[in-house]
Amino acid sequence: MKYGYFNDQEKEYIITAPDTPLPWINYLGSENFFSLISNTGGGYSFYKDAKLLRLTRYRYNNVPLDSNGHYYYINDNGTIWNPGWQPSQTPLDFYECRHGLGYTCYSGKKNGLKAQVTAFVPLHDPCEIHKVTLKNEGLGSKEFTLFSYVEFCLWNAMDDMTNFQRNLSTGEVEVEGSVIYHKTEYRERRNHFAYYSVNADIDGFDTDRNTFVGTYGSNKEPDMVQKNRSGNSLASGWSPIGSHRLSIHLDPGEEKVLVFLLGYAENPGEHKWSAPNVINKEPATLVMKKYRTAAQVDQALSDLKKNWENLLSTYSVSMADEKTARMVNIWNQYQCMVTFNLSRSASYYESGTGRGMGFRDSCQDLLGFVHMVPERARERILDIASTQFEDGSAYHQYQPLTKKGNMDIGSGFNDDPLWLIAGVSAYLRETGDWGILEEPVPFDNDVSKSQPLMEHLRRSFGFTKLNLGPHGLPLIGRADWNDCLNLNCFSTEPGESFQTSGPSEGPVAESVMIAGMYVKYGKEYAQICRMTGHADEALEAEASVQEVYDAVLRAGWDGKWFLRAYDAFGGKVGSKDCEEGKIFIEPQGFCVMGGIGLAEGLAEQALDSVKEQLDTPYGILILQPAYSVYHKHLGEITSYPPGYKENGGIFCHNNPWITIAETMIGRGNRAFEVYRRTCPAYTEEISEIHKTEPYVYSQMIAGTDAKNFGEAKNSWLTGTAAWTFVSISQHILGIRPGFHGLIVDPCLPDSIKEFSAVRKFRGAEYHIHVKNRSGDQNDAPGLFVDGRPIEGNEIPYTEGKKEYHVMLQLG
Ligand code: BGC
Ligand code: NOJ
Repeated sequence: MKYGYFNDQEKEYIITAPDTPLPWINYLGSENFFSLISNTGGGYSFYKDAKLLRLTRYRYNNVPLDSNGHYYYINDNGTIWNPGWQPSQTPLDFYECRHGLGYTCYSGKKNGLKAQVTAFVPLHDPCEIHKVTLKNEGLGSKEFTLFSYVEFCLWNAMDDMTNFQRNLSTGEVEVEGSVIYHKTEYRERRNHFAYYSVNADIDGFDTDRNTFVGTYGSNKEPDMVQKNRSGNSLASGWSPIGSHRLSIHLDPGEEKVLVFLLGYAENPGEHKWSAPNVINKEPATLVMKKYRTAAQVDQALSDLKKNWENLLSTYSVSMADEKTARMVNIWNQYQCMVTFNLSRSASYYESGTGRGMGFRDSCQDLLGFVHMVPERARERILDIASTQFEDGSAYHQYQPLTKKGNMDIGSGFNDDPLWLIAGVSAYLRETGDWGILEEPVPFDNDVSKSQPLMEHLRRSFGFTKLNLGPHGLPLIGRADWNDCLNLNCFSTEPGESFQTSGPSEGPVAESVMIAGMYVKYGKEYAQICRMTGHADEALEAEASVQEVYDAVLRAGWDGKWFLRAYDAFGGKVGSKDCEEGKIFIEPQGFCVMGGIGLAEGLAEQALDSVKEQLDTPYGILILQPAYSVYHKHLGEITSYPPGYKENGGIFCHNNPWITIAETMIGRGNRAFEVYRRTCPAYTEEISEIHKTEPYVYSQMIAGTDAKNFGEAKNSWLTGTAAWTFVSISQHILGIRPGFHGLIVDPCLPDSIKEFSAVRKFRGAEYHIHVKNRSGDQNDAPGLFVDGRPIEGNEIPYTEGKKEYHVMLQLG
């Protein structure tokens, strides 16, 4: 069952029922100001950092679901309704929500009155614009009242939820004309404020929540909306809100457009405590002037759309399979950009107060967005690398506002260092900007300890090299990619001294997955060394990679698949000898991607085992059989009920590793089957089972052991976005940057007979046409560039050449 449909022309998903199985959200903003917006107008806004500079208040775990947002109430002769249905839930005569790239437009119609809200954050200005269009589609004239509503957050979202004794007395506002200023904390010279305006005269306002909503009222039918008036309240402590009231008259057919603006402003340099508590409104006034008229707003929206066109034009395909094309051209790349902006900080599943930017996460996200925003990827790499420690390990997370490593979480995830090589290697292949390796980058955020980025890569590689365990495999530390595989929980005997917050003394647990990573990214590191004139180092790196490769064959192969790990007692994890957790997906994907077992015929066997043991119609399970009870020596992974998350869920993030691995052994049909099973455009048909947004990937789908098999959770902020984009665009369709030029090396399923692609790469445009093997003897296989055949699959890059016409006939 579906709750909407795709409009590829407009690049929108159009939702036709407000009561979707879960709130279906979108993200507004691309630089500093961001909003989450659901299909019913729910959500919140923040500036740069969802924890430290939260503009509006949102209550996670709320009842009813998703009932705080940026709302409009209409009181039409006593009938109270919202154009987005929530929070009043008054049934509408018509409802539609169109989520587009960086904007959302929802509309409702009731008793002949249509209200449409178009919400977006313009390029380069820190504000959210709402264009509200009211149209009388009835026969008689209409008199009604429009109320706007936002509830301000007192900036630090964590503190806002916990420190009431203080917060209930700090709220301060100011109202001037149609502008409501939220200036809580300004007194302390934190020098920022928010403002909420409308481009028309108002008939009343409220800024005190209790006055507007009613002390025991709710935002379903606020007191003032019911009374059809305003209290003109000025909040003093308690909970500041912003609400404008406008009385509106519309003749039949008449339309009125209003522009509401929720903005963030800073008064730089005015930190002096002694200054009076007077905000300098100028920065806000300038922004309000820029977006005063409907024409200005339309222009800003059209600029935003053009910007997205431009970003997406770096990689576009045309092919008969419209579902795949829609994901490749629009939604998958869009989600990659959202993960670039948000990492794992704020979604409807991440509260924005816990996790900031992840070291591992952001490095992987880079694989999916580097082609769209290479300059920003460069900046991101330098930010991430400066949270690395001198020994090559890294803070696992950092706060986007401060860019400082998060001490509470610390380090110890032994896969982290290698992801830096993955990200930098992707950046180098995309841009050819070798100069980045010479950029000085601090260790542990300390500029006095700066070293060229190349030295950071060296330490990353060196960290794994120096941290091998008893079987010659990399030590796992607190965990590897799988955060929940905590094999060093014990410091002594089973049952004693359980530690969750760091490696115990002498942790010896080893990870076969990190071994796969080391082989894959170690080879790329060696190539980087060679390309930068460090041939000896390259040889050394390759020798070390070979040792780990051999260790995997010796101690990491279980007969029919790769082992997952050795625990702290030397016991096998992910082996046929285990009672539960016999096989895990991660090492099968990563070892094969690293090329381990290709020559020995083991890769094919490992991937056959994945198909036999882990396949389901909704995707590949992370492990089988799921753990039925908790085991201290395995850690958090066994804390989940069977079938959920890391304990036997379908972790979408590593399905594409299998897709890529399958292309490495030339099995295009199977690769595409794996791709399709978790692909949102394909699973849209089962939205009632899947429940999350059908236009983006979710982190996890409940596995076969779970009661709700097929139900997804944790949509949007997941490495799945980047990895599936890599798997389809670079491996199935096969267009990927190499160190020397663009590689065209597809591995297609029989169902894709041919496709064309345009790829912008290092300043040139590649027009590529690929034909699958046809069986026709006349179709001579080969790769042709501008009509001439070339050897191999990497098209040598020629400085200054602007256009390449590439034709590939697969044989
Ligand atoms: C979750 C993981 C997540 C980790 C983040 C765990 O509870 O299961 O998916 O990566 O927390 O710290
Ligand atoms: C989600 C985390 O963001 C990611 O870093 C981790 O690899 C996966 N969970 C698996 O545990």
